[in-house]
Amino acid sequence: MQDVIDYLTQNRDAALEQLKELLRIPTVSADSAFAQDMLAGARFVHNSLKEAGLNVETIQTPGHPIIYAEWLKAEGAPTVLIYGHYDVQPPDPLDLWTTPAFDPDVRAGCIWARGATDDKGQCWTHVLSVAAWLKVHGSLPVNVKFVIEGEEEVGSRNLDVFLEQHKEKLACDVAVVSDSSQYAPGIPAITYGLRGILACEVTVTGPSRDLHSGSFGGAVINPVNALCRLMGKLHDDQGRIQIPGFYDSVIALTDEERAQFAELPFDEAEWLGDLGTNAPWGEAGYSSNERRWARPTCDINGIFGGYAGEGPKTIVPSKATAKITCRLVPDQNPEQLTEALKEFLIDNLQPGSELEFTSQHGAPASVADLNSPYMAAAKSAIEKSFGKVPVMIREGGSIPVVGSFKEILGVDTLLLGWGQNSDNLHSPNEHFSIEDFHRGTAASAYLWQELANG
Ligand code: BES
Repeated sequence: MQDVIDYLTQNRDAALEQLKELLRIPTVSADSAFAQDMLAGARFVHNSLKEAGLNVETIQTPGHPIIYAEWLKAEGAPTVLIYGHYDVQPPDPLDLWTTPAFDPDVRAGCIWARGATDDKGQCWTHVLSVAAWLKVHGSLPVNVKFVIEGEEEVGSRNLDVFLEQHKEKLACDVAVVSDSSQYAPGIPAITYGLRGILACEVTVTGPSRDLHSGSFGGAVINPVNALCRLMGKLHDDQGRIQIPGFYDSVIALTDEERAQFAELPFDEAEWLGDLGTNAPWGEAGYSSNERRWARPTCDINGIFGGYAGEGPKTIVPSKATAKITCRLVPDQNPEQLTEALKEFLIDNLQPGSELEFTSQHGAPASVADLNSPYMAAAKSAIEKSFGKVPVMIREGGSIPVVGSFKEILGVDTLLLGWGQNSDNLHSPNEHFSIEDFHRGTAASAYLWQELANG
């Protein structure tokens, strides 16, 4: 084992260089302008896994390719399915980046680029640890299968079909994903729960063209006003979501879990200060960690319509659009709630306007077994590399594949996040601590041994 750790330590610079190469490829899955770059990203992942000594295939989908790789020579040992994603969120707004999003920069102990932490940097820790084991020993203590996809940031829309079609090939004992965060700097964590999600877009239309607001304003519907009014109805003054039936299937937090959350160190003023705001907001009766990890939400992610250029313009705009996502908790059903949201919006629509509703994607929440032998192996691997026993947390973000692994392959996922929530994922100036990149890689190398020891 120590020889693998030594190899990783000696080859840290090369590991970072390889990550930088991947970060230079602008793999923005949401925007078709980056289609060629997505292919280049897939090729890079394919070739790196092949160089590491695995059998690799690139699977075409109606969207972006999936890379599958395997090494299955550890007879009798457990089989681990490692998942990551090579796609990233759009880098906009570009002018807020200190250095360009796809020109990775090393400063202040971090690597700065879109995808540094979400998820190229984190995913790469497993590629590097597997490569190191194979280089040093010519073998691994466990069997490994990699699935690295290019559509996580757009809802993993072609992944379930792939999982269904290759169920036998993907059979495993446990899945491992590093695409989340530690609890805080110096406090490594294992995430045992994630929220689910539903995403949709809503357009309200009124008059067939923009109108002079003096000649017509006040006498016909204004779709921007109407959409804002509609969006205003989503919550009451206590932060409760008003969609009928929205909370019906929510599994309430147990007293035990609430107590466990409350034990985690949390300085609310500091947390808010870091976010640049001065007061928490949310559903009455819940702490901030409860709100972000275990209560559902309804957020408008973007709203647009009418004139947004410089100076005034006096119009009644003809349409307005909002992009909405709800974060879901066990046992909420994304399909049912998408319908409930649509009905709620239609029922509250004002006369003279029409509503177009497009569902984009959905995934259920997930909670893993805290007492499995796999959890124990992960705790021990993290403790060996980070020097501290990880705390157990839930997270508010979503990784759609985790629910699919449970449903289609019947396995739990170990969510071993090496990042920090302050890494600016989905935001300008995304970064990842280089120390955590290396510590995560070592923890991954230990994990294969710990899982084999059972
Ligand atoms: N890495 C995140 C999920 C995450 C973020 C987990 C923070 C834990 C803490 C992941 O890549 C992501 O951003 N997922 C999307 C999924 C969605 C588009 C279906 C998300 O949560 O918005």
